[in-house]
Amino acid sequence: MGDTAQLIVDGKTYEIPLVVGSEGERGLDIARLRSETGLITLDPGCGNTGLCQSSITFMDGEKGILRYRGIPVEQLAEHSTFRETAYLLINGELPTEAQLRRFSVRLNDHSLVHEDMRSFFESYPRGAHPMGMISSMINALRAFYPSIPERSEEEEINITFARLLSKVRTLAAMSYKISLGHKVVYPRHDLSYCANFLNMMFDSPVKPYIVDEDLVDALNVFWILHADHEQNCSTSSVRAVGSARVNLYAAISAGISALWGPLHGGANQAVIEMLQEIYDSGGDPAPFIARAKDRNDPFRLMGFGHRVYKTFDPRARIIEKVCNRVLKKLHREDPLLPIAKKLEEVALRDSYFIDHNLYPNVDFYAGIVLRAIGIPINMFPVMFAIGRLPGWIAQWKESADDPKWKLYRPRQIYAGPLKRDYMPMGERA
Ligand code: CMC
Repeated sequence: MGDTAQLIVDGKTYEIPLVVGSEGERGLDIARLRSETGLITLDPGCGNTGLCQSSITFMDGEKGILRYRGIPVEQLAEHSTFRETAYLLINGELPTEAQLRRFSVRLNDHSLVHEDMRSFFESYPRGAHPMGMISSMINALRAFYPSIPERSEEEEINITFARLLSKVRTLAAMSYKISLGHKVVYPRHDLSYCANFLNMMFDSPVKPYIVDEDLVDALNVFWILHADHEQNCSTSSVRAVGSARVNLYAAISAGISALWGPLHGGANQAVIEMLQEIYDSGGDPAPFIARAKDRNDPFRLMGFGHRVYKTFDPRARIIEKVCNRVLKKLHREDPLLPIAKKLEEVALRDSYFIDHNLYPNVDFYAGIVLRAIGIPINMFPVMFAIGRLPGWIAQWKESADDPKWKLYRPRQIYAGPLKRDYMPMGERA
């Protein structure tokens, strides 16, 4: 096996170096392609383009494998907590007991949000989508917490990471309370990361919230499963925006905006809306499946398909188990669950879905778990964003530390009109 590939253009041969990843993935290093050949590559949607070399997350879409820093996501979902997984992603190794304690203290120290930020939420129109609010609040953090020149750069960066991880949870719960017109609940240092969030969401002066460890476990798993997913749309947005050397808050805010879309993190909300529509129309998924297969209909089966996974999304299997466990524990039946199961069963037997390699993704059962926990539907993408934050931070840090870090500046093949002259208004047809 040679370590170069050959490209022949206009009868001239160019050697293109091959890059091999630690799991044996191979790619063509085209960094010098344009300077040597005058050519660029064209890859809409970047399905064949690696934008970086990364040591954070490994995915094998054909085999349904997902690992963070080498550790299978199944093991993390079973044994780890979201806080520990966040540490792993950002720092590269599982923490020692002392390191985890220090990390927790730091998260607690930075959990409060400047009181003036509350007025932002109050000024938003009622019914505004929380993703838009969170994205702008995260950007606004920079104004409230500017850099302090006396601090070392490393300390500054670590504090910024802790601020983001801790405050995003406070801001999310705050947005919910304010949307209800209820009293905001403050973070507590005696509660774990997930329990703290649930308490801020659901505690009230008239009905104290009793933390349910099974729901805390479910939330831990939900957030672990969302913690990173290599170069997805929002993560590459964080990297792209970050490549202009903008502050981290602004880069993360861009990631949240990208995640909002229904083809990405907004899919968990879209799945529930779709299941509800099936339920409201009598519970038969067949017409929805028919619409998803119709090329003339833009409708897609939400929670199905993935750019990388061409088999089951490994996260989908885990979240389905969590879903069954949580509903059993709560002695609750969700009328949307049997619809989801029926839809999955029918789709998996249908030749369209088989031929297109369309399987349930993480979002398919995630919404039912979030509903069981009591999270309102428009906050589902925010839940995804909180979970994805460690990944965005780790990916931003990796790119910022990369000695080969370059400004993202893709090229294009221009397909517009050739040069023509400006035409005065009176001469236009
Ligand atoms: N329902 C029906 N058809 C689909 C679906 C779907 N959910 N997903 C893809 N297809 C078809 C698509 O119509 C196309 O068919 P054809 O080749 O006959 O024209 C083919 O499959 C390839 O589609 P694509 O859009 O080129 O593929 P992609 O890799 O860009 O799509 C996707 C990935 C996630 C955008 C897409 O599968 C989709 O829209 N799924 C529904 C939204 C969703 O669940 N998103 C969450 C993704 S997982 C969470 C995350 O990591 O963001």
